[in-house]
Amino acid sequence: MSGPDRQSDPAAHRVQFLLDGKQVSLDDVDPTRTVLQYLREDLRRTGTKEGCAEGDCGACTVVLAEPHGAELRLRAINSCIQFLPTLHGKQLITVESLAGADGTLHPVQRAMLDCHGSQCGFCTPGIVMSLFALFKAQTGANRRDIDVALAGNLCRCTGYRPIVEAAGAMYQYAADNEQPDRGWMHRAGPAGDAEERALCRQLQALDGKASLALRSGERRYFAPRDIDTLAQLVSEHPQACILAGGTDVGLWVTKQYRELPTLIYVGEVAELRTVDERDDWLDIGAGVTLSDALVPIVAHYPAYEALFLRFASPPIRNAGTLGGNIANGSPIGDTMPALITLGTRLMLRKGGATRELALEDFYLAYQKTALQPGEFVSRIRIPLPSPGRAVRSYKISKRFDQDISAVCGAFSVELDGERVRDIRIAYGGLAATPKRAIACEQALLSRDWNEASVQGAMAALDRDYSPITDMRASDAYRRKVSKNLLYRFFLETSGATDGKSVYDWR
Ligand SMILES: Cc1cc2nc3c(=O)[nH]c(=O)nc-3n(C[C@H](O)[C@H](O)[C@H](O)COP(=O)(O)OP(=O)(O)OC[C@H]3O[C@@H](n4cnc5c(N)ncnc54)[C@H](O)[C@@H]3O)c2cc1C
Ligand code: FES
Ligand code: FES
Repeated sequence: MSGPDRQSDPAAHRVQFLLDGKQVSLDDVDPTRTVLQYLREDLRRTGTKEGCAEGDCGACTVVLAEPHGAELRLRAINSCIQFLPTLHGKQLITVESLAGADGTLHPVQRAMLDCHGSQCGFCTPGIVMSLFALFKAQTGANRRDIDVALAGNLCRCTGYRPIVEAAGAMYQYAADNEQPDRGWMHRAGPAGDAEERALCRQLQALDGKASLALRSGERRYFAPRDIDTLAQLVSEHPQACILAGGTDVGLWVTKQYRELPTLIYVGEVAELRTVDERDDWLDIGAGVTLSDALVPIVAHYPAYEALFLRFASPPIRNAGTLGGNIANGSPIGDTMPALITLGTRLMLRKGGATRELALEDFYLAYQKTALQPGEFVSRIRIPLPSPGRAVRSYKISKRFDQDISAVCGAFSVELDGERVRDIRIAYGGLAATPKRAIACEQALLSRDWNEASVQGAMAALDRDYSPITDMRASDAYRRKVSKNLLYRFFLETSGATDGKSVYDWR
C-alpha cells in the first residue's frame, strides 16, 4: 500500500466527529453513505428530513462547526448530498441538538413557534437550521439577510411571512432569555468565548494530523492533508473520483446510483483552501468553498454580487467549491462565463509538475475538459480589475433563487474614449461548453461603443452559437435573450442608466 494507507495512526482509518458534544468514532464507513442516511437510518434521529435528496429543498439542512484558526465557524449544509466521512474533525449540529437539556427551546425554535412559522412540519427542521446558522453568524439580521439565509429552504404552502417574522424575532428572544448556562449555541453571533475556543481545541485534537484513508468492501476513500500527498494519490488512482464539496458528485450517487469505488477528497488539503491576493491577480485554491471564494471576487468586482447571490443557496455555496464548478465542465455553470471574460487562468497539477492554462481553453467538448488522467485543478488565478474596464454577468433562469441558468452571459469592455479598445464576451447555456463569442467581439472591437455597433454585434451572435431547445428554454428564446443581455450591458455601461442596473434585483 502507498500514501496515507501506510500510516500507523489508527485514527487515520476512523471517521471522528462530535455530535451533541460527544465524540463519535466510526469504523468501516461506506464512503458514499450520506450524512442524512446516517442520521435517519443508523441513528434513527429523524428530525432531519429528506425531501428531494439533491440539495434543492433544504428539508435536510444541518449545521457543521469547524475550527477556523482559533475561531469556530458554523455553516449550514445539505446533509442529503454530504458524504459521511467528510464530517471528520467537525461538529455536527442537527435540529435535535438545539433545545437545552431541560427541554428549553432554542431562541430560533421559540420564535418559529410563537410567530406560527412552523406549518407543514416537513420543511420546518431545515428552516430552523438555516435560521440557526444565520443566528450564529450575526447578532442581528435585516430582511435581505433573512431572504438570503432562507433561499435554500423551499416552502410550498406559501407561508414565508411568519418564517421571516420569526427570523426577525429570534434575536430578541435570545436577548430576553440570556442565561449564562445556556451555552454558546444559544448566544447570537460568533461567541468567541472560552467555551467556543475549548471546542475548537477539542475538534483540532479529534481531527489529528494524519490523512484519512478508509476502506469499506471494495470502496476506498482518501482525505489527504497536503498537496503533494494529493498529487501522489491522484497519480496512483487516475480513475478515482475527486471529491470537493460533493454538490455535483453527491447527486451522482443519490440520483444516478453511480458506483464510485475510489474517492479522493480535497477538502482537507491545506494548500487548496487558501485565498491569496497577489500584485495582479487573486489566487484562489481549488478547494475554497464558493461562499469563501465569492467574497474576495465581489470585493474586487461588485457587479458580480447579484450573480453570486443567485448561485444555488447558502448550503450549496457553503459546501461547493469554485474548483468543483470549473472542473465539473458543465455548459451551464454560473462562474465560468464571468471568469472567462476576466481572463482567468488555471493551475493544473499532475505528479510533481504544474502547468498553467487559460480557463477558456480548459473546455474541449460537452463535459470534457483538458484535465489529463492523474491531473487536478490546484488554483484559479483571476486578474484584478484594471482601470476603465467595466464588467457584468447576468443569469437568466425561471426562478430567481436556487435555479439553474437557461443562459448566463458575461461581458467585459475597456473603452478608449468612445472606441472599444478591448472586449471579451462569453456565454453559458448556448453551446456544449461555456464559450467566448468571438464573432460578436470582432463586431465591436475598435468600433465606437454605440447603438449601431452593438446592434451589429447582437446579430453576430448568431454566428457564434447554435443553441438547443431543452426543458429550460427554446433555441429561439436563448438566441433572443443572449442578444438582449448584450444590449443590457451596453445600456448599463453607456450612461443610459446612470451606471445603475436596468433591473433592481434587491
Ligand atoms: C441544488 C443545487 C443547486 C445548484 N445551483 C448551481 C448554480 O446556481 N450554478 C452553478 O453553476 N452550479 C450550481 N450547482 C452545481 C454545483 O453546486 C457547482 O457546480 C459546484 O461548484 C460544484 O462544486 P463541488 O465542490 O461541490 O464539486 P464536486 O461535486 O465535489 O465535484 C464536481 C466535479 O468536479 C471534479 N473536481 C472537483 N474538484 C476538483 C479539482 N480540484 N480538480 C479536478 N477535478 C475536481 C469532481 O471530480 C467532479 O467531477 C448546483 C447544485 C445543486 C445540488
Ligand atoms: S433533501 Fe432536499 S435538499 Fe436535501
Ligand atoms: S412549511 Fe412545509 S410547505 Fe411550507
